[in-house]
Amino acid sequence: MILSPSMLSADFSCLKEQITQAENAGAKWLHIDVMDGIFVPNISFGACVYKCLKEHTNLFFDVHLMITKPERYIKEFADAGADMITFHTEATDKISECIDMIHELGKKAGIAINPETGTDEVKPYLDKADMVLVMSVHPGHGGQAYISDVDGKIQELRKICGPDYLIEVDGGIKKSNIKHVTDLGANVIVAGSAVFNDDIAGSVKGLLEEI
Ligand code: DX5
Ligand code: ZN
Repeated sequence: MILSPSMLSADFSCLKEQITQAENAGAKWLHIDVMDGIFVPNISFGACVYKCLKEHTNLFFDVHLMITKPERYIKEFADAGADMITFHTEATDKISECIDMIHELGKKAGIAINPETGTDEVKPYLDKADMVLVMSVHPGHGGQAYISDVDGKIQELRKICGPDYLIEVDGGIKKSNIKHVTDLGANVIVAGSAVFNDDIAGSVKGLLEEI
């Protein structure tokens, strides 16, 4: 079970300190939300921000691209230190090519679907990709409530993908529902506001204890 704290909810004035606290408390991954203001209504930050953090941490950089036509920027995000690059199937008509590009750059590839997108959109690519990301909020902002309509998709994907495949769930996950999501079959859990809005180390430990 992997916890991937989402940097989007961190205090950007002291990112290094905050991610170090999460790492020291037991987190292994860092979820990095890149938003372009087009695929989603919000703009977050680009590759130059997490590039600066790379030398200060051993966290696995789990980069979630909420950008249109991700093929334009895959190399830049890989070069900046991404370990996993996940893009949305809704954002490109070059899904297979994007996975190949990511692999050719020596990184893991993830494919993401929005809450209203069916699993049929990812099924043809599951063998080729390393991870599927099920969004459990409408992408664009931290701090939203978990949409339980996605429960069935998580269960279905776990059945299809077998026990070891990486299934990440992102949005609205807290101490009160993290166990519910892992019981459905998720094994990579993103938590933003539940980690960074409070005592970071205590929150990471609390979430890890639940799973
Ligand atoms: C939303 C982002 C999420 C977000 C999760 O578009 O993809 O990763 O940071 O935040 P919480 O955990 O607060 O819902
Ligand atoms: Zn995300």
